[in-house]
Amino acid sequence: MKKIFLSTFILIASVCFSLAKAQNKISVTNLQCEMLNNPEGIDVLRPRLSWQIKSDVNDVKQTAYQILIASTLENLNANKADLWDSGKVNSDESVNVVYKGKKLKDRQNAFWKVIVFTNKGEAKSIENAHFSIGILTYADWKSTRWIGYEKLSKDDSISQFSKLSARYLRKEINLKKQVKNAKVYIMGMGLYELYINGNKIGDQVLAPVPTDYTKNVKYNVFDVTSQLKEGKNMLGTILGNGRFFAMRQDYKPYKIKSFGLPKMALQLFVEYTDGTSEVIRTDDTWKLTTEGPILANNEYDGEEYDARKEMKGWNTTNFDDKNWVNARYVQEPGGFYEAQMTPNMKIKGEVKPISIKATAKGTYILDMGQNMVGWLQLKIKGKSGDQVTMKFAESLQADGSLYIANLRDAKTTDIYTLKGEGEEIWEPRFIFHGFRFVEISGFPGKPTLDNFVGKVVYDDMKTTGTFESSNATMNQIFKNAWWGISGNYKGMPLDCPQRNERQPWLGDRTTGAYGESFLFNNQTLYAKWLDDIKYSQTQDGGLPDVAPAFWRYYGDNVTWPGTYITVADMLYQQFGDQEVIKKQYHSMKKWMVYMEENYLQNDLMDKDKYGDWCVPPESLELIRSKDPARLTDGQLLSSAFYYQLLGIMKKFAKISNAESDIAYYDDLAVRIKKAFNTKFFNAATNTYANNTVTANLLPLYFGIVPEDIKEKVFQNMVHEIEVNKNGHISTGVIGTQFLMRTLTNFGRGDLAFKLASNKTYPSWGFMVENGATTIWELWNGNTADPSMNSQNHVMLLGDLLIWYYENMAGIKSNPETPGFKQIIMKPDFNAGLTYVNASYESIYGLIKSDWKKNKSALEWKITIPANSSAVVYLPTNNASSVMVNNQKLTQLSTFFKIEKNNLVLNLPSGTYILNVK
Ligand code: BGC
Repeated sequence: MKKIFLSTFILIASVCFSLAKAQNKISVTNLQCEMLNNPEGIDVLRPRLSWQIKSDVNDVKQTAYQILIASTLENLNANKADLWDSGKVNSDESVNVVYKGKKLKDRQNAFWKVIVFTNKGEAKSIENAHFSIGILTYADWKSTRWIGYEKLSKDDSISQFSKLSARYLRKEINLKKQVKNAKVYIMGMGLYELYINGNKIGDQVLAPVPTDYTKNVKYNVFDVTSQLKEGKNMLGTILGNGRFFAMRQDYKPYKIKSFGLPKMALQLFVEYTDGTSEVIRTDDTWKLTTEGPILANNEYDGEEYDARKEMKGWNTTNFDDKNWVNARYVQEPGGFYEAQMTPNMKIKGEVKPISIKATAKGTYILDMGQNMVGWLQLKIKGKSGDQVTMKFAESLQADGSLYIANLRDAKTTDIYTLKGEGEEIWEPRFIFHGFRFVEISGFPGKPTLDNFVGKVVYDDMKTTGTFESSNATMNQIFKNAWWGISGNYKGMPLDCPQRNERQPWLGDRTTGAYGESFLFNNQTLYAKWLDDIKYSQTQDGGLPDVAPAFWRYYGDNVTWPGTYITVADMLYQQFGDQEVIKKQYHSMKKWMVYMEENYLQNDLMDKDKYGDWCVPPESLELIRSKDPARLTDGQLLSSAFYYQLLGIMKKFAKISNAESDIAYYDDLAVRIKKAFNTKFFNAATNTYANNTVTANLLPLYFGIVPEDIKEKVFQNMVHEIEVNKNGHISTGVIGTQFLMRTLTNFGRGDLAFKLASNKTYPSWGFMVENGATTIWELWNGNTADPSMNSQNHVMLLGDLLIWYYENMAGIKSNPETPGFKQIIMKPDFNAGLTYVNASYESIYGLIKSDWKKNKSALEWKITIPANSSAVVYLPTNNASSVMVNNQKLTQLSTFFKIEKNNLVLNLPSGTYILNVK
């Protein structure tokens, strides 16, 4: 029996539901929800609509669709598409279909469904999707005032270690009629928790996502209809510091940005059943106190909580607030307002500690068994005034005490004072730590493992990729990468979560973002980050190395800021997102021109700051190598990178209808290529510059090396790795981005496999062998100077994860048909693995590649989602040795051809078992 299920979602907002073939039993499948997890208050007037088709038969292609969008659910149910009826559109497009209906208004509600026509029958939504528009008209916000309290209390301080108690706000409102529909639009800076009648609204934590608040401020939107009742209601918020009242407020202001004391603006829009509506806005009748139990909250230093100061019922109507003051009107943060289009963080998992040991000092060391990011929940009994101190660190010293030298001046300490009323359960609200070990002191009685639970906190996005292979080291590296990547997603991609840094460094993600996209649905996070980068651009076009520029690092280099362009390219390649390119194109071009005008000299780009950051150094205690033989010329790096970016910009110009720019990029590229080869190529040795792996790798990967000498340059690079470096890595953050794919593309997948599975220094496996459960900042992370030695940085992953998926599993989106409309499945079966079992949830649906081989046979199970297809490469030139779903290929009408000793099949959607003898 044929069955087709569809699931629809709007891009960037949060909708998820599924559809089923009309004549079939209705079946709901939950797909891609997390990517779209807040459908309320989106920030675009032309949302893009996407849906997924699910089917249990092969070869399903969409032939047409019809989208119906209505302003109420009732209308939609009655098929009254009063906002948009697309009519039947003959098209195979099922992702990123742009809304073309009636003009949408502020706060507009929209309900929608789609009817899909396929070559195997038609199907329609069985559940309707929903989204609503935010408040896009600034005038609507104008009368909503910012409120706060701009005074420090006696224990607060503005210093190297800023300390500030949380602000509690409350406001009683009286709703005179029955509520039909209500939404809250909240800007709570730096971080907020919102309550109505004592109940927390939403399960987000550490919201909203951080931005440069002088440039833009994100508001969150919640449907709170079910929280409100006719009559008296209580709104309550707690404001924490986040990045607003900076961790080092007004400390080194030339470097660190501060924004002031916490503040908020909120509107509650209520529609009554009689058709009338009203908007309740923040004003100075709100009551405020700074005397609540959260005495301090500082992302670097930790949270202090005194449970004796709890104010029972503060966020309900039954509370006496006579000691509270009226909130004050304060200046707005400065940035313009935008609905947040990327998910907030949530508690995404729990970790139970694996051991607890008493120390000679009378403290205890708790081991979580995993370097994680989030916090510790405490369950405790004791007397009023007992105080427990928890200090967090990533590892231990030889004597068993915490290793804190690598945290620099971050105090990473939470302090809880008991109220002494039976069992108390506490966890912090406005901070996070990167830690595996915790030192506990002052615990009343003897703590056991049951007193603690680790809460894992990161952006609420879905894990989209799985990977398992025959190599245990590679599998553990994959797990460590998952922990490292997820932990550092904090509404922006951080460099690290533990020391006094935690900055969104651009260069750490240049290629990493692409690899990460196989593991997480990071589309909206990176789209938001590109906005952060855009907003941080200087008037003349310069870009910083850190964005949002919480640290002002405007050094005008190429490799770090170039991430602006490579990440946009990732969003296009992996998610088929063209809008993001159109949106950013102008600013990207501005930067390219700015760099050219200021730093192109004799057709070479003369601007580099970090070199091939973090190559394995000559001595194991060093952070940075000083040995010229290990370092690659900065002019080579920046010129090669700029050359690569010109190629991407050429592609972007086409997408952005800016074809007239192409000649400019082409001309520059030709000149740079020529100057590059003249300056750096050594014809006597067929090597570049000082013959580091990176020096040869970049021109090879970017296509700068003339065709006839590519192979020779490649062989020299291989010699350097295999012989001079004894089969080990010698690249840093730059070279490692292209290493694995280049080796494989030139036929040395076996050497790439060796690097991926090495256990000796320097290698990712060496980190594993030394107890790492995440990825280190330095190849020599176990021995290097602690002043820059994080144990949870992801930049050294380079292109490793891309290689896992594209080259080992064989799951790659064809660049000609971005977003996995067509998949290229070409695993390197001879690299050294005997099996790979991987999956990736693409925007079309689940892709699977599960192969195992022995000396004489290969079995490969493949799943290709509906409305997508795959070009599949089998390692044989003998068609009669191939079986497809237990039938001889030669007896099927499936199209195939032989190409360079591979048999290449074109497969439509579905599941297949391929056997090659
Ligand atoms: C950060 C890195 C960053 C680098 C650039 C370090 O302190 O942690 O991840 O890219 O500085 O200089």
